Amino acid sequence: MRTTLPNSNTHFNVAFFSTRMYERRVFAPLFQKKHGCGVTFNVNYYEHALNNDTAQLCHDIDVVVVFVNDDVSASTVKVLHECGVKHIALRCAGFNNVDVEQAHECGISVSRVPAYSPETVAEHTLALILTLNRKTHKAYNRVREGNFALDGLLGFTLHDKTVGVIGTGRIGKAVIRILNGFGCKILCYDPFHDDDIVNMGAHYVSLEELFNNSNIVTLHCPLNNDSHHIINPASLSLMRDGVMLINTSRGGLIDDNAIIKGLKSGKIGHLGLDVYERESELFFADHSGDIIQDDIFQRLTTFPNVLITGHQGFFTQEALNEIATVTVGNIINNDNLVPLT
Ligand code: NAI
Repeated sequence: MRTTLPNSNTHFNVAFFSTRMYERRVFAPLFQKKHGCGVTFNVNYYEHALNNDTAQLCHDIDVVVVFVNDDVSASTVKVLHECGVKHIALRCAGFNNVDVEQAHECGISVSRVPAYSPETVAEHTLALILTLNRKTHKAYNRVREGNFALDGLLGFTLHDKTVGVIGTGRIGKAVIRILNGFGCKILCYDPFHDDDIVNMGAHYVSLEELFNNSNIVTLHCPLNNDSHHIINPASLSLMRDGVMLINTSRGGLIDDNAIIKGLKSGKIGHLGLDVYERESELFFADHSGDIIQDDIFQRLTTFPNVLITGHQGFFTQEALNEIATVTVGNIINNDNLVPLT
């Protein structure tokens, strides 16, 4: 249990779920370091995810540290509460996998890392756009095999194209800043308008207008009740034929069956995904020797104009360092708390 020692030093017992070695290398020195405030940590690192069953491991744990695919739904939160957990520290920005209301009811605080490096995810978004467009992933293989033919590699000039940005928060704004450098026209949609975005030359429009007029649609809003399957048969029908669709936000923003139909009909000309609705069963692990049972995912990988990365938008050394620093700070200071709404 969290114990306040007589000299008012504080000790936290921490359970760290879904651990990967690249994270442990960054977090462990911070947990071991002598903090000025006298805080000390004892950390159990688990490779497996947090869920209703594994939450039972948290007896005598003060803080659980979780990532995007840990299941922190109401039933898990209740088990954590029974175990005495006081704080859920997300080492990511999105918090759609946590039942925040249940946590509040149980008196468990929830923190996250709201802005570790929006540019990191924005740059990965551009990597998807540029790779899909100029097909450098295919050219790489061809040239190595002595095939210098250009057939099938034809792209389009990004300059002057219209990009629709859905969600103009930190990452959306960074994407717009980069796209401005390419000379793109920017349309955007967000329930909240930000003057900075307008000053950057972008135009807020209705979703319908954005879909009607964009050559590229890129998603940067959180997954919530309003945005779930924001890309669906109706929204696809509003888009230009051959549209490029990019999702580096959360898989649940897209209705996968609708995009498979859109790819088959040619409505979608390019699809770039860093996230997938059922990614928790696949991503962040090596399944190269397994028979993958998710037929929708497997179908998506068969299209020549689809590029999928396994949730690596956040994955730079700078972002990992920032995530670790902010997460440990959140535990010590009970900071960056996720609001109920
Ligand atoms: P943010 O909170 O700064 O911005 C989100 C914006 O979306 C806000 O302006 C908000 O008003 C807007 N929004 C909310 N509901 C909307 C809706 N229904 N339609 C349109 N806009 C809506 O968040 P940030 O930092 O820009 O991150 C965006 C998302 O990116 C996160 O929620 C997370 O899911 C995802 N993400 C993905 C990563 C990756 O590795 N692929 C890493 C980090 C974040």
